[in-house]
Amino acid sequence: MDKHILSLQLAHILGESYSREWVYEQIEIPKKDQLGDLAFPCFSLAKDFRKSPQSIAEELASRLDHPQVKRVEPLGGYVNVFLDQTFFAEHTLKQVLSESEDYGSHHFGDGKTIVLDMSSPNIAKPFSMGHLRSTIIGQAVSNLAEKCGYETVKINYIGDYGTQFGKLVAAYYLWSDPEAIKKDPLTELTKIYVRFHEASQSDPSLIDQGRAYFKKLENQDEEVTTLWRWFKDVSLVEFNRIYELLGTSFDLTRGEAFYNDKMDAVVDLLDQKGLLEHSQGAQVVRLDDEDLPPCLIRKSDGTTTYATRDLAAAIDRFESYEFEESLYVVGHEQTLHFQQVKHVLEKLKLSWASDMHHVPFGMILKDGKKMSTRQGKTVLLEQVLQEAMNRALENIEEKNPNLADREKVARQVGVGAIIFHDLKQDRAKDIEFSLEDMLSFEGHTGPYVQYSYVRARSLLEKGSFDPEKASATLKDEQAWGVVKRIGSFPQVVEDAFRSYDPSKVAKYVLDLSKAFNHYYAHTKIIGSEQANERLTLIYVISLILKEGLELLGIEVPEEM
Ligand code: ARG
Repeated sequence: MDKHILSLQLAHILGESYSREWVYEQIEIPKKDQLGDLAFPCFSLAKDFRKSPQSIAEELASRLDHPQVKRVEPLGGYVNVFLDQTFFAEHTLKQVLSESEDYGSHHFGDGKTIVLDMSSPNIAKPFSMGHLRSTIIGQAVSNLAEKCGYETVKINYIGDYGTQFGKLVAAYYLWSDPEAIKKDPLTELTKIYVRFHEASQSDPSLIDQGRAYFKKLENQDEEVTTLWRWFKDVSLVEFNRIYELLGTSFDLTRGEAFYNDKMDAVVDLLDQKGLLEHSQGAQVVRLDDEDLPPCLIRKSDGTTTYATRDLAAAIDRFESYEFEESLYVVGHEQTLHFQQVKHVLEKLKLSWASDMHHVPFGMILKDGKKMSTRQGKTVLLEQVLQEAMNRALENIEEKNPNLADREKVARQVGVGAIIFHDLKQDRAKDIEFSLEDMLSFEGHTGPYVQYSYVRARSLLEKGSFDPEKASATLKDEQAWGVVKRIGSFPQVVEDAFRSYDPSKVAKYVLDLSKAFNHYYAHTKIIGSEQANERLTLIYVISLILKEGLELLGIEVPEEM
């Protein structure tokens, strides 16, 4: 019995005016055990039925009947459902044992493709915390989509185009040279870019210089193009180091510049459909009916925009992959941009435009403010990752100096801490940057979950557990907290995918770890009467913790 089955049953009893989906949405998992395992609130039905919520609850309770339900209690307007624990435990453990790492998988995505636009850093700038969030969240959403049956296409849409590259070229000729760039590319390129920005405040002629170089780039001037390509290559080398640490890869790395020669086609299409309007020398698509500002397509100097390129890229993605959904994992500060792009495509009557979804996430703030490259205020991500790995190594040297593969485990733990710290937050919330929090390995952290897994594994080893001889007939009231959570894993996976919110999985593995550690502290396992059944339970927990962490893109050490 889970939310699905209960919602089917209740919808059946309630009759046609209530859909199963609606009932499903209403069902809660009570925080207190004495309120049952599942609960259905009857308050919103009171008006329709002209009865008190409690009397509706009583009637529903009297009609609910299912072999997995031990007892139903109407209380305070809720139908509280208590599951038959022995039945549920056996049923659930058997299912995990037979499905192994496939437990929690779904098939509703079979045969469908999801495209994810993720990471997408800007060349010649340091990889920012925002791009880190996009990479980590994108990777986890992609893993969740695959767990639900979808094929995924992860695209790194590098920011390699725009007027800023004209400025960068101008800055390079003014203040830099090849040696300086080779030594530390992103630092040097950022430094001269910031300098250019500052200098242009008092010397506006610099802006014209920048514009002129950008024009050259647009016209594929050889020297400027070579320079730009070089900036791009050195940037990608730096980014790839970070991807390797994070364990992320892409199916396609294709930047904005790729769409440069496809701009005219987009502009023509908009023109043909009568959507293009002239406004102060520029060309725009009006979105008044959507209450949005116009989408700028071509500026008065003839150059195209970030939005024009996204239009071309969106069309290209549909033509290449015929996606079921096309996701953009990008910070919430770009919400307006994605609304505009989507509405322009809808005005072109492209039916798939409604399958494009911006998956926004909160910013990482420093003292309540956005961190910006232009003012040189970003925190260098690679240093943060390095520091996390160093701390993990120190911990190992202190607590487990004989550990094999120390460097590898330090990477898994350090990087795991950073990824988990990000993913446990509600996706949409802004986060105040705290190195201390990111580097903490105790409490609500990735390493705590990794450690719980390692503990489970060592218990299995100590008890010489053999999966071939596993037994699902557990009769152990103490285990209920754990068993119940094991049973909800498939639901958590589905909910996390449907809301594109990996924090649901992060919170789940924390919760399961806590329940496991509590059980372990209070129950004799090895040498008890039910040793094999209890070890089977531990084995199942270990499978799910591992699978849960891997869904988040976190590696799991066997020892730490
Ligand atoms: N490079 C952009 C930035 O750093 C993000 C690109 C997001 N993806 C997109 N299709 N616009 O702000």
